[in-house]
Amino acid sequence: MKIRPRILRQSEALRDMVAETILTPADFIAPLFVVEGEGIEEEISSLPGYFRRSLDLTIREVELLWSMGVKSVLIFIKCRDELKDNEGTEALNPDGLMQRSIRAVKQAVPKMCVMTDVALDPFSSYGHDGIVENNIIVNDKTIEVLAQMSVSHAEAGADFVAPSDMMDGRVNAIRMALEANEFANTGIMSYSAKYASCFYGPFRDALDSAPGFGDKKTYQMNPANRLEALRESLLDVEEGADMVMVKPALAYLDIIREVKNSVQVPVTAYHVSGEYAMIKAASMQGWLDEERAILETTLSIKRAGADLIATYFVKDLVKLIS
Ligand code: PBG
Repeated sequence: MKIRPRILRQSEALRDMVAETILTPADFIAPLFVVEGEGIEEEISSLPGYFRRSLDLTIREVELLWSMGVKSVLIFIKCRDELKDNEGTEALNPDGLMQRSIRAVKQAVPKMCVMTDVALDPFSSYGHDGIVENNIIVNDKTIEVLAQMSVSHAEAGADFVAPSDMMDGRVNAIRMALEANEFANTGIMSYSAKYASCFYGPFRDALDSAPGFGDKKTYQMNPANRLEALRESLLDVEEGADMVMVKPALAYLDIIREVKNSVQVPVTAYHVSGEYAMIKAASMQGWLDEERAILETTLSIKRAGADLIATYFVKDLVKLIS
């Protein structure tokens, strides 16, 4: 034999030297779930080990994340039921929980890149990402609200807005609104290829945001489709997205790679709540080695082409790779 690939695998030193993919804390985006109140830290039952926190404790968490080398957080809020309506009015409240959270996090850790979820579902009495008329999620009225919502987040200090709604033309509408309001430096991380997935279940428990009727298949993508993901991603880049996203991650590694090969902006992958729950559940049963499962899964997402990874395992990962 003249060629022996095992030579490169024979010691830890060699394996480290030739590793093609390396995870660093700057790769990760930490999702945060904020609730009203003080001193609150509630474990989310379908996301064991992950918490909803009031703003005071959220700030402590962001300080901790920053000290660990994490550079970005993605804020979600749990809107009180009585504030929900069809138009997502509360989403535009300058003193709403989201806007207060952005201000407080930016004030506590100014260097942290603060990203915010932009979609109507947490604020919608129907639990849909857009405005509902005659059981239809209407597009063009919704993107007007999303654009105003983005400006409101930028006003509060958000560095990036992350539209997760999958309406047509929303990136363009948001970019125009940011420009018109002199927020030229606010970035857009667009959920470009977001699939209608069963893996968002625990997230919807966390925010009590499950759709009240029907499903999200008229706006989120069919898991069967690949070309459509490229079309959506290229469109978002054309409309002015600074980063695109594929979501979920693990069941869509092929899509991450194809999007990565097709766009010239950073690609984010969202390792979503249900994907986290699967690893947790199997580990709690003793069926998987949790640490190895977290590392292998996250490495595979980066290897597939993700420049950034939104994941509920951020703190575990930073410990595991350091
Ligand atoms: C809201 C939104 C969802 C997620 C992120 N933003 C849920 C949904 O679209 O129903 C899911 C994240 C996760 O499951 O971890 N539009």
